[in-house]
Amino acid sequence: MIKVFFKKSDSLTSTTIDEGQTILDAAKKINIAEISGDCRGNCACGTCHVHVDESWIDKIEPIWTASLESYLLEKSKHYNEKLSRLSCQIDVKNEYDGIIVNLIEES
Ligand code: FES
Repeated sequence: MIKVFFKKSDSLTSTTIDEGQTILDAAKKINIAEISGDCRGNCACGTCHVHVDESWIDKIEPIWTASLESYLLEKSKHYNEKLSRLSCQIDVKNEYDGIIVNLIEES
């Protein structure tokens, strides 16, 4: 099992998922309100946007720059070139155990 942490301000929530599942799967498992995932993981809505924690961003598979994921992220007002990812596009591996993603708070 792989532990995934969701961080919002000072609060940290976690759950566990299996290798091959996505960060979106983890969010759905514990009903993270900030990640609605409207297209259910089909890389079509952008509502599963997260900022991967600085301490983890270089440890996970990088985003493919010509991908639909990049296109959707760049349209978001919360886009962060280094940290933004769609949680449905992050397939977790065993070495991602303990990964931290920051939830995006609408302002
Ligand atoms: S759930 Fe729609 S893009 Fe990720």
